Amino acid sequence: MPRSIDVALFACAVLVPACGGSAPPSAAPSQAAPTQSAAALPPPATAPGAAAAPATAEASNALPPPSAAPGVTKTEVQLTPPPQEGNPFVGAHLYIDPAYVAKVESSVKEAGADAALVKKVEAFSTAVWLDSIKAAGTVSKTLDDAAAQQKKAGVPVVTVFAVYDLPERDCSAVASNGELTIANGGEKRYQKEFIDKIAAAFKAHPKQRVVAVVEPDSLPNIATNLSVPKCAAAEAVYRRSVAYAIKTLALPNVSLYLDAAHAGWLGWSGNRGKIAKIFSEVLAEAGGSGKIRGFATNVSNYDTLKGGDLAKLQPTDPCPDELTYVQLLNASVTEAGIAGKAFIIDTSRNGRSGIRTNSGSWCNIKGAGLGERPQASPAPFIDAYYWIKPPGDSDGGADPAKPGYDEMCGGPKAPDSAPGAPRAGQWFGSYFIELVKNANPPL
Ligand code: BGC
Repeated sequence: MPRSIDVALFACAVLVPACGGSAPPSAAPSQAAPTQSAAALPPPATAPGAAAAPATAEASNALPPPSAAPGVTKTEVQLTPPPQEGNPFVGAHLYIDPAYVAKVESSVKEAGADAALVKKVEAFSTAVWLDSIKAAGTVSKTLDDAAAQQKKAGVPVVTVFAVYDLPERDCSAVASNGELTIANGGEKRYQKEFIDKIAAAFKAHPKQRVVAVVEPDSLPNIATNLSVPKCAAAEAVYRRSVAYAIKTLALPNVSLYLDAAHAGWLGWSGNRGKIAKIFSEVLAEAGGSGKIRGFATNVSNYDTLKGGDLAKLQPTDPCPDELTYVQLLNASVTEAGIAGKAFIIDTSRNGRSGIRTNSGSWCNIKGAGLGERPQASPAPFIDAYYWIKPPGDSDGGADPAKPGYDEMCGGPKAPDSAPGAPRAGQWFGSYFIELVKNANPPL
């Protein structure tokens, strides 16, 4: 529970454009649907037991001021800091996934002179993606493994899962379409065979700290992509399924973060207003906003934390980077009645800017580099920078002749994408080595 004194001391006000200035580019689905956005990180930089950085006026001012279109009325929104003691990353080590280590190891052999550099990535934590019913069956084993790491370390180990098997998944793209559909009874199966199974495994490991990032891209697609027939047809199922996931996975040892897209997608005030309203409706159905710890942004995407080229690529977007987005999104959700939330930013591949010709490009972007290492409490309101998208996992297939091809990943519509990519989730070794070489900060 937040102590009221914390609120009084740490509350900070943000000026947000209250109306107008929202004009999101009536984005083509591809532009508004960075479906494979995600990232992840290593051991907490924060010493065990260290408190989250207070949201001092100085720290808040360090963030870029929200821009407002001329003539836009500004409203002051008081932001309530999340309860410090609720940050699951503080005082914990991060789970090292042996399956990810094995993927990295497969590239060490290919890396030649960069082998030692590549090997360093084995020390960093990445999220475990539950992207199928089969994967849900592995949660118990993963948490047993985390318990063993915890025993060895003598400190709590936090395991981060991305929960990602919604019926009609990835409705505005192709690369990550899933196994469940409305037609194959996907809504019931999602509840019984996927979410309930995951919840049972979480419950069976009450001593393990668990973080779950809930359904990347799902509600953002409802906010901006209802012109895509598949998204329109899936709207009600998305809302009910995400509410069910939140309601069922909200357990004492589990911290939930709902996916909130990224600056380049929902940065405009109109889009932020839309997603905030959807969040408040879905959270009401799930039993209240108290069920979640907060929101995850930039999942599988490439937006930088601060600065970068989004300001040039999307000059009407008041959020040129993720730190600004988190701040303004926080104001939007607060206005919608969801206060006191924390954020995770996926920094797995956002180390470099100036790599996209189009801000809507989302698939295996050429020239990308690893971003900030996973770390707890790096800034006010941020629980962690973390590598949610395992760097090296493909965003989507580049070969039109193979399953999993997406025109945003290869061909004339994908000038920013690295060629030769395998389908989503599979290891893209040559791309991984480039991510490592381009890491910023360097490894
Ligand atoms: C894919 C998943 C994969 C995840 C992490 C998504 O784009 O659809 O299958 O597990 O990325 O790499």
